[in-house]
Amino acid sequence: MDISIIGSGYVGLVTGACFAELGNTVICADNDVKKISGLKKGLVPIYEPGLKELISYNLKNKRLKFTSSIREAVKASEVIFIAVGTPTLENGEADLTGIEKVARSIAQNMVGYRLIVEKSTVPVETCSWVKKTISTYVKKGYKFDVVSNPEFLREGSAINDFTHPDRIVIGAESLKAKQIMTNLYQPLNRPILITNIKSAELIKHASNAFLATKISFINALSRICDQVGADVKEVAQGMGLDSRIGGHFLRAGIGYGGSCFPKDLEAFITISRKLGYDFQILKAVRDTNQEQGAYVLQKIKDALWIIKDKTIAVLGLAFKPDTDDLRNSPSIALIMGLSREGARIRVYDPKAMAKAKEILKEAVFCKDPYQAARGADCLIVATEWNEFKELDFIKLKNTLKRQLIVDGRNIYEPGPLKELGFTYIGVGHGNE
Ligand code: UDX
Repeated sequence: MDISIIGSGYVGLVTGACFAELGNTVICADNDVKKISGLKKGLVPIYEPGLKELISYNLKNKRLKFTSSIREAVKASEVIFIAVGTPTLENGEADLTGIEKVARSIAQNMVGYRLIVEKSTVPVETCSWVKKTISTYVKKGYKFDVVSNPEFLREGSAINDFTHPDRIVIGAESLKAKQIMTNLYQPLNRPILITNIKSAELIKHASNAFLATKISFINALSRICDQVGADVKEVAQGMGLDSRIGGHFLRAGIGYGGSCFPKDLEAFITISRKLGYDFQILKAVRDTNQEQGAYVLQKIKDALWIIKDKTIAVLGLAFKPDTDDLRNSPSIALIMGLSREGARIRVYDPKAMAKAKEILKEAVFCKDPYQAARGADCLIVATEWNEFKELDFIKLKNTLKRQLIVDGRNIYEPGPLKELGFTYIGVGHGNE
């Protein structure tokens, strides 16, 4: 099929590259001319495992093209995905001006039937606004359909999530739209759920909100575990073995971050309020997440007494492993909190250092965990990168000034570290 993806951000690039890999002809469009000229040369502006290779390969075999002309994209393709950003406005609402603008451009450049697929995460009822907008601006009465096809890609495993999704959700009205979408996804051979458009839009927000709820629940529980000396990992394991609960997204830590959960939760709370419902559960989820960062900061303070002039090593800056994304990263929030109290910060992250240099002006950027630990009063693990799981703790012990490890992601077993002479502080393992 001939497909266009409008918006070459995270979702747009992964979706475009994967559809090209499936044998479709794909045009990825973006109004950022510099980004597009880089992409034409195979320069990918984000780090996502496997994405660069996939883009280069499909550029070479001419199944993937990049353009800054939305007109070119709309003219050439029957199926057009909208994957532009929907950032949060000050009042918590999702900013949909990008979507509206794209809908207008699509309408003005159509040269026949078009299937417009809403891929960005949007509040319920956005598709009906897209439909109204296109009807208003479309020339010569060309026919079109609008469908909702939410993405469930996780950063760090986005390509695998695209090719092996648990489900593909398609919210569509007409038979033609349902058929085109089903044909498009058929090669993946995964469960396809066809719903009405509003249900599909809600499935996205509801899924992210539910996953965030699981994380905040386990983080709240970690505080009870700390009080009584229980182990939150064991509690999560015991809960997760109940298939009605499931073991995923029950890892306690310093809180969730990223470009989706905080934004989507806020948007869902706001749209619910507009629809006349005060979604209190979700407000508690958000507040618990914010408190969790403060809780871990307090643990560090309790261990160090005075933060001012202490040297603190932080391993991990990205909001999760296998990405260089710093958006709403709990690690950055923690570092900011420590810096405000006068700490000297030394950091290391396998992929996110370049981006972090723009934000953390005063931190010392180190080439590996050991250099970061040099002379530090405390070592914090803020992102659970695999390479932090197997460190040389004898070397680390001799490098640190004080043998204090704050394991913000619970990646270590406390016993062996304590035997080596470290003071170990985790989340939900009992207070020291
Ligand atoms: C999420 C959704 O999972 C995905 O379906 C959606 O399309 C986009 O948003 P992403 O933000 O890439 O994906 O990352 P995810 O793996 O979901 O993690 C989000 C945050 O939750 C991270 O900060 C992570 O560290 C944290 N997290 C996750 C926990 O703290 N505990 C857990 O058990 C799981």
